[in-house]
Amino acid sequence: MYDKTKFKIKDNPIILGLESSCDETAAAVIKGRKLLSSQIMSSATEQAKFGGVVPEIASRAHTEAVDEVVRRALDEAGVTVEQIDAVAVTYGAGLLGALLVGLSFAKSLAYTLGVPLIAVNHIRGHMAAAYLVDEELKPPFITLLASGGHTAILHTKTYTEFEILGGTSDDAAGEAFDKVARVLGLSYPGGVNVERLAKDGQNSVQLPKCQVKNTQALQFSYSGLKTAVINYCHNKEQKGEVVDKENVACSFQHAAVDPLVKKTVECAKARGVKTVTAGGGVIANGYLRNTLEEECKKAGLKLVLPEKKYCTDNAAMIAAEGLIQYQAGNFANLNLNAKAQIPLK
Ligand code: KG4
Ligand code: ZN
Repeated sequence: MYDKTKFKIKDNPIILGLESSCDETAAAVIKGRKLLSSQIMSSATEQAKFGGVVPEIASRAHTEAVDEVVRRALDEAGVTVEQIDAVAVTYGAGLLGALLVGLSFAKSLAYTLGVPLIAVNHIRGHMAAAYLVDEELKPPFITLLASGGHTAILHTKTYTEFEILGGTSDDAAGEAFDKVARVLGLSYPGGVNVERLAKDGQNSVQLPKCQVKNTQALQFSYSGLKTAVINYCHNKEQKGEVVDKENVACSFQHAAVDPLVKKTVECAKARGVKTVTAGGGVIANGYLRNTLEEECKKAGLKLVLPEKKYCTDNAAMIAAEGLIQYQAGNFANLNLNAKAQIPLK
């Protein structure tokens, strides 16, 4: 029988990572901290027809793609299925039906191969993406996390312990990008389309910056900024004026990003931490990346920034967090269930 207490921990294990929490079916292989392959099949084009992710379509697409995406990841890595030392899989947060496809596949594989199953929290995956950029990276570091569901600044103290220094009291940064995209009539997925439009615009529309409340813990708020964009566009329309969409997109991008970058650098200074990392879909934003690079350089901080494709959902980051859990001997049972929501901590 499958007994998670019997597994031995190897040096430089080959780990297969699997991700299916939303509309990307992804598989990746790492050996130690070295990334051997990363494959993604996405149902985003199909979802775009509906203006967002339809859970049922996502689940079906995962079912159709999962076998193929794993085969491609193994081929790209030049690894046979028998060489896999552990299977790491996203068990939450995400769409339940979507998660269950990856989870069921991972359980069957771990059972068949007789290797550890590792339960990965999707958000911890985003945080771990930086480990693959720099094989020498070790805690402590400050992470700016910004995705569709989370916005936070974290202080990673050891491989398995971190402190949340700040978060959002309402919308996440990615959610705000997506809502503004809708107001500007841009198609799904919104964030990247706001960025494209912003490239032709000026930071000329007066918008409140995403608010920073310095309560006991640092808190961001995006609802005021989002409402300001909506009001600006509606006022223009009511007056029969053309909405300067490029300028709105550019001004919004500045207002949404600048406080995140500023506070991340301030947190690093305040904690005396010399390294900054970042993760989550919004970190794929070019303006954010440039600003973060500039500000870290000015402050004398080392920045470890995953490539754009490892900021948005992927399985390399799941394998990377899987490795952290593997080294800690944190293995799951085969009754592991999917969870729609998991607290960051
Ligand atoms: O991490 P992610 O792929 O999925 C979640 O775990 O949520 O993040 C998705 C979010 C979406 O809100 C999307 O609009 C945003 O990341 N995003 C971007 C960009 N690319 C993705 N936001 C701004 N600029 C981008 N280039
Ligand atoms: Zn994500």
